Amino acid sequence: MFFAVIVAAGKGERMNVAVPKQYLPLLDKPIIAHTIEAFERSPLIQEIVVVIHPDHEDIFVKRVLEQFCFKKFRKYVFGGDTRQESVYRGLEVLRERKKDFVFIHDGVRPFVTESIIERCAERVQETEAVCCAIPCVDTVKFSEDGNTIEKTLDRRKIWRAQTPQVFRVSLILEAMEKAFQDGFYGTDDSSLVERLGKKVALVLGAENNIKITTPFDFIRAEEILRWEKRI
Ligand code: CTP
Ligand code: MG
Repeated sequence: MFFAVIVAAGKGERMNVAVPKQYLPLLDKPIIAHTIEAFERSPLIQEIVVVIHPDHEDIFVKRVLEQFCFKKFRKYVFGGDTRQESVYRGLEVLRERKKDFVFIHDGVRPFVTESIIERCAERVQETEAVCCAIPCVDTVKFSEDGNTIEKTLDRRKIWRAQTPQVFRVSLILEAMEKAFQDGFYGTDDSSLVERLGKKVALVLGAENNIKITTPFDFIRAEEILRWEKRI
């Protein structure tokens, strides 16, 4: 079975607006509602856990839960100070589902598609761990100090990680617990599994599967809606 943990407990500081970005309206509903609906639409997903910031409980209940009828929404839990802690709090809800699989997804990536979800679900059953990513289109430079270039990396070997990242529940719990023990904080979930020496499969994401991070991303989000002919 496949579960989803959607993390939306961040403060959205880079967006620089009063309302936390995950609750900003995009077209007809808050960003987080688009994201939940994307997982609702996939017949593969059984249940959805949403991780929110305790200060946002009111806004989540009033602007999201009470406005939309989600059939697979199971519960919400409060996140922590880092994304990693927030993911862990969501995973704790699934502790009894060790043999099943969990999609970990950013609440601010509303354009995840059914085909991305399908590709991940298919691959994770062979590999236990997948990371959605897209090939890098830019030439990538490596610099130790940010002043001079040490080398040019081989672009064909560089992938930009996205979410969803999908794991067997037992594996990601083990990886997370080890990371916390070691005081390691990764910028994604896959890196914690990589540290165990376990191979993580790459699954093609999509250029449109953007993470809404800065005000400019709102413009991109509207362009994507236009591209998808939703506006
Ligand atoms: N997130 C979370 N708990 C945290 C930090 C982040 O659940 N302590 C979530 C965010 O809500 C978001 C996702 O992780 O859905 C990706 O994080 P990011 O884009 O960095 O969002 P924020 O941390 O909210 O934004 P910023 O870093 O600009 O403050
Ligand atoms: Mg952040």
